[in-house]
Amino acid sequence: MSITETFFTESAHFAGKHVHLAVTGSVAAYKACELLRAFKKAGLYVSVTVSTGAQHFVQPKLFEALGAIPVYTDSFGGTEDCFAHLEPGTRAQVFVVAPASANAIASLAQGRCDRLFAAQALAYAGPLVIAPAMNPKMYAHPALQQNLKTLSERGVMIVKPQTGVSACGDEGEGRLAHLAEIFWTSLKALALQDMTGLDVLITLGPTREHWDSVRFLSNPSSGRMGMSLALASWMRGAKVHLVQGPGVEFPTPQDFQVVPVQTAKEMYQAARELWPSMDIGMFCAAVADFSPVPYQNGKSKFKKQGVTGPFQLTLQRNPDILLELANDRRPSQKILAFAAETTPDMESLVNLAQEKCKQKHADLLVANRVNPEETTFGSLNNQVCVVNAKGCGEIWPLLNKTEVAWRLCTWLLQA
Ligand code: CTP
Repeated sequence: MSITETFFTESAHFAGKHVHLAVTGSVAAYKACELLRAFKKAGLYVSVTVSTGAQHFVQPKLFEALGAIPVYTDSFGGTEDCFAHLEPGTRAQVFVVAPASANAIASLAQGRCDRLFAAQALAYAGPLVIAPAMNPKMYAHPALQQNLKTLSERGVMIVKPQTGVSACGDEGEGRLAHLAEIFWTSLKALALQDMTGLDVLITLGPTREHWDSVRFLSNPSSGRMGMSLALASWMRGAKVHLVQGPGVEFPTPQDFQVVPVQTAKEMYQAARELWPSMDIGMFCAAVADFSPVPYQNGKSKFKKQGVTGPFQLTLQRNPDILLELANDRRPSQKILAFAAETTPDMESLVNLAQEKCKQKHADLLVANRVNPEETTFGSLNNQVCVVNAKGCGEIWPLLNKTEVAWRLCTWLLQA
């Protein structure tokens, strides 16, 4: 999934906010263009400063062409406005340095204002996000690490680099973080932190139930709704714990705790272990309700030779993860359930949703129609009906899943 198609680029949630992006001298400077495009797609205003170091790799004109207004360069005292160093501080709601070179990080840590972007950062009182990118040896150096520690203690949000092969061929930690993570962290800096201190468990994706060593029963769940909820909760300050079914391959922020599982039984075990220390459970997974009794204990491949007509698989019930955990909840724990139903229309979905919300002891239940003509699985948008434990229900308009997730978090906090 490209950065411009990632979660929250389609959302109007942050539209109209202003981000200032400082691009400093690193081979990864070209990636800042994609970051700018993602911000623009999400409806943000973007101004940019391209440092002299960054201009060795990428031209300021490129940022202008992609819609940044204005684009500052390092020509302090040139033809530019003599108050250019104060401008982002009066307009921007988040200041992002990506990529942040070792030199840029030293300037920021020491409060130097020898270059325009550093002076702009010094004159800026809002949230600062930095995404380091450099050679792994430079990144590991104690001087650099000390500067990062200083910044972190000052409240700067640091998007740690990835481990891998850097442009020079050296291997280790130093590659610019995944652009999606820098994008989401910048949005997090803009969001109200009304879920701070909450631990959120989210089950997502399908499960796979093998009936021989190579074949399984499953469903087309993409995990997109669960991931939207995870990101919305995290942006609002929650600590996120994912129990994730197979085939869900979205990048996640590095501080998500992710437990990958295959089967419903594994999902149940993982969720059960986490549940006592959670404040909220969001049960989005499309769990297989039945698993086949596997052929030869699942150790061999079933051969079709000799089978001429229909043959039978024997199915057994899987644990109902949500129900088991709901039966074992503390009164303060909140539960968000989902329901997938085939109904003739949205109105009849409301009755089924109210029934299921009671059955599952949930605080809130979101029902989707999964009629053959619907494209709920994997789609960007979704029309849902939402009911609460008191019996109130609403049909929401067709919305982007990230917007559905944001609203659900708000409802759950009030439930
Ligand atoms: N769920 C679960 N474990 C299961 C089955 C479902 O945790 N074994 C959760 C889902 O994640 C969802 C809710 O229960 O939050 C409802 O799932 P749904 O598939 O709509 O209903 P089921 O309970 O499976 O019942 P049915 O398929 O008969 O409608």
